[in-house]
Amino acid sequence: MKIIHAPSEMQQTALEERRQGRRIALVPTMGALHEGHLSLIRLARREADVVVVSLFVNPTQFGPGEDFSRYPRDPEQDRAASEQAGADILFCPPVEAIYPAGFSAVVDEESLTHRLEGEQRPGHFRGVATVVVKLFHLVQPDVAVFGQKDAQQLSLVRRLIRDLNFPIRLVAGPTIREPDGLARSSRNAYLRPEHRYQAPVLYQALKAAEALYQRGERNAQAIRQAVRQALTAAPDGVPDYVDVVDPDTFEPVERAAAGTLVVLAVRFGETRLLDNIVFDPAGAVSRPAGTDADPASGGPSRPVSRG
Ligand code: PAF
Repeated sequence: MKIIHAPSEMQQTALEERRQGRRIALVPTMGALHEGHLSLIRLARREADVVVVSLFVNPTQFGPGEDFSRYPRDPEQDRAASEQAGADILFCPPVEAIYPAGFSAVVDEESLTHRLEGEQRPGHFRGVATVVVKLFHLVQPDVAVFGQKDAQQLSLVRRLIRDLNFPIRLVAGPTIREPDGLARSSRNAYLRPEHRYQAPVLYQALKAAEALYQRGERNAQAIRQAVRQALTAAPDGVPDYVDVVDPDTFEPVERAAAGTLVVLAVRFGETRLLDNIVFDPAGAVSRPAGTDADPASGGPSRPVSRG
């Protein structure tokens, strides 16, 4: 596996790979790789000739007082794990190479990022959009692989690809869970033992919503209430939001349907956990920008070719 630090070298390498007719898949990460990331790398391996994993803890997506400085970092372990999962190139640029002095151009999405995570974390999605667009230019991927776990981020990337005309196919990887249902996340490492014990309540609440939907409940308000009720089983969990939303717009829906997302964020002490579930993903209507994932995983439905 090749390790590249300089953005210019990354871009030259990518352009050369494309000239040679090789297809590139990008898996963007902030490191601290866990099974969720590794599953995305394996997915990328099946999609392209060259798999690039980017490893960059992006300062612009952290707000003041958030965990940028203490975000878990383990570059050696990340290097070994990404190589083992099938990466060909590890792109790990220094912060000053991505944001050199005088950097002032940013990417803003003006609709779906205003709610939920966007409201809780002002500026977060601007930072994500900016770095993702930069990575797209530097890595020139044919395919980009993102996790379903960060559902609003996934919708943002789908929107960037569509609205900014990137010739990229977006692939959504299913959420990988611990045996007790907790979604894998680098931030799980922050949980105190008593909070870790209670944290599976997020998935239990989502499964309760899914069971309601499967029994025929379509009223989003009733579903929201059932989720909030299920979350009360965790005495230390403080919900930031629970919502039932359209996966493309992230606007709340009144009636749930195939493809509708239930999203939630819950705080345990200083740690915020996110999770989501998609109702009947196999029945969802294909989206124009194209995503795919394993329907059994709660991810969006089948592969859709570039729109
Ligand atoms: O999901 C993440 O790890 C980050 O938000 C991403 C997409 C790598 C951008 O920094």
